[in-house]
Amino acid sequence: MSQDLWTAIDEYITGHLIEPDPALDTALSASDAAGLPQIAITPSQGKLLELLARIHHASSILELGTLGGYSTIWLARALPRDGRLVTLEREPSYAEIARASIDNAGFGEIVEIRVGPALQTLPELHAEGAGPFDLIFIDADKQNYPGYLEWSLKLSRVGTVIVGDNVVRAGAILDPAAGDPSFNDGGTAAGARRFYEMLAAEPRLSATAIQTVGAKGHDGFALALVRET
Ligand code: DHB
Ligand code: MG
Repeated sequence: MSQDLWTAIDEYITGHLIEPDPALDTALSASDAAGLPQIAITPSQGKLLELLARIHHASSILELGTLGGYSTIWLARALPRDGRLVTLEREPSYAEIARASIDNAGFGEIVEIRVGPALQTLPELHAEGAGPFDLIFIDADKQNYPGYLEWSLKLSRVGTVIVGDNVVRAGAILDPAAGDPSFNDGGTAAGARRFYEMLAAEPRLSATAIQTVGAKGHDGFALALVRET
């Protein structure tokens, strides 16, 4: 198996199952034009998030890591008109690009972008009594996944679904010392590994992770359900 094959199959899947959406295309091209990192989720992953949110009848969604708003738009598509999506972004310049793309997609009214490090904006949200959210998508800097999971739980209810991106990183998850630099953790996977340990140890969570291959290489999604203890 090779990256070329994975990409070709991703394109096949997208060509058959993902209806074109100019607002999503515009969001990606605006991100690229502004020089944002090209690390957004793929169309097939976006559709999976939208379907998960629809299956779950989510009306409130929290996203950690807005980037250019591409995944935000996928998630917002699942929401009812009176739904709410709060998305957290550390980089003000990314948030500005995302704001324009989200507004252009017609979701300006239901999407709130909070700018700042999520470990600051999450406690603020909690103090305001925001949440509980029906679905939480964690896709920000990997070293802080443990803290993000802790705050996500505080902003959850029984039944909340938590999805985490990038939990495999082509196997870097197995190597605590020399992981993928994109874990942003001094080249280690320590944060992501701790995330798994927390998923395993937390009695309020029932979790799994699925390896994926596609246009973004070999990686994985974690999926957790908040349950009664
Ligand atoms: C990368 C991919 C991601 O999905 C992400 O959230 C961060 C980094 C990457 O490929 O480097
Ligand atoms: Mg990601």
